[in-house]
Amino acid sequence: MKILVVGSGGREHALCWKLGQSPLVGELIIAPGNGGTALEGTNVPVKDDDIPGLVRLARERGVDLVVAGPELPLVLGLQNALEREGVACFGPNAFAANLEGSKGFAKTVMRNSGVPTAGFQVFTEHARACRFVMEKGAPLVIKADGLAAGKGVVLARTTDQALAALEDMMVKRTFGAAGERVVVEEALSGEEASFLAFCDGEDFALLPSSQDHKPVGEGDTGPNTGGMGAYSPAPILPRERFAEVADMVVRPVLRNLANQGAPFKGVLYAGLMFTDRGPRVLEYNVRFGDPECQPLLMRLDSDLAEIMLACVQGRLSRVEVRTRPETSVCVVMAAKGYPGDYPRGMEISGLDRAERIPGVKVFQAGTRIEGNRLLTSGGRVLGVTALGKDLAEAKETAYRAVEEIHFENSYFRRDIGDKGLKRLAKEA
Ligand code: AMP
Ligand code: GLY
Repeated sequence: MKILVVGSGGREHALCWKLGQSPLVGELIIAPGNGGTALEGTNVPVKDDDIPGLVRLARERGVDLVVAGPELPLVLGLQNALEREGVACFGPNAFAANLEGSKGFAKTVMRNSGVPTAGFQVFTEHARACRFVMEKGAPLVIKADGLAAGKGVVLARTTDQALAALEDMMVKRTFGAAGERVVVEEALSGEEASFLAFCDGEDFALLPSSQDHKPVGEGDTGPNTGGMGAYSPAPILPRERFAEVADMVVRPVLRNLANQGAPFKGVLYAGLMFTDRGPRVLEYNVRFGDPECQPLLMRLDSDLAEIMLACVQGRLSRVEVRTRPETSVCVVMAAKGYPGDYPRGMEISGLDRAERIPGVKVFQAGTRIEGNRLLTSGGRVLGVTALGKDLAEAKETAYRAVEEIHFENSYFRRDIGDKGLKRLAKEA
């Protein structure tokens, strides 16, 4: 089988690494890919938002299955365009992708299907949104409706901050059309976890729980990033609770979308917050998380290509999704300055030494190959991932591998996994 993976981050390197292990996969093409995906297949310089270009590439190369890494191509209708050409796509159609592409749509689906989430209102008129904010008072969370590269969420501690966020999004249009509609919601507090499921339109198969580390600084301080590290399983969401939580946050959404004529095929990602009053969905994503994908795929003990095909063909109940019992930890090595401005083009060394440590795999994100050198080309550069018998061992191994890797101006958080360790210590 020939597979085209769309995207260029650490998630896509992990997808290619895992797909490459399948006896079903003959050839991997990646658009546009990075220095890591080039080790697993052939990179082709077509961007992830170039839908006609991706469809043309799939047709010309006789691709059997397209795997969408990021949300943008799905929201732009990649699945729909491929379907018209008779090419299978792992990932939902544009309508179902609105679950991530429009926060207002997601909240409406949640409300209509009884999914627990923060109380909210959707606004298209600035004056009305302001009135609502003044009535409710802070703390409030202001969210641009559309895709805003992870930057469209403002946690407003004061009413003035909330009003300023509305002004930015709805009047100054800092996020362009993404701010035409705004969701104002109740601020919740609690520990977060990511809960992902393979879906075939009707049935689903759960992946293990995981936890991201969004803020750039240790102790969850500083601005939000795409994610500075992740681990799996997350002790806050143990396996004993999977069925109960899936009945709350996965099953009703799949039924709702199927009833709207858009059965969800792909990975559904529920971003959860465990509040005093139970789990609440903060957001849905319509794809694997980055970096959650890296530790999750390290633990996946089944054939990823077979699972993805089963999702597309609506026969997920007939394949097995097995997980290794070990814990995995992924530490993101970034360029200093990220998520703001950062330098590029630094030479990376020590990957081979890191990967000689048993249980370690380094997934590349912002890298490119120039001659025989590997250079940084993005903010998040590497996802150094390790398996261990428990969280403490996996963390220790991952950081030992990090110590082997060098590039100028590298930055990483030293506390990936600590929330889980603390919870495990409390439970013991
Ligand atoms: P989102 O893109 O909706 O997941 O928001 C990004 C981050 O903002 C989440 O991971 C949370 O840390 C935070 N967040 C989102 N919604 C809320 C909320 N209602 N209350 C508190 N924090 C939130
Ligand atoms: N790591 C969070 C996300 O992929 O959305």
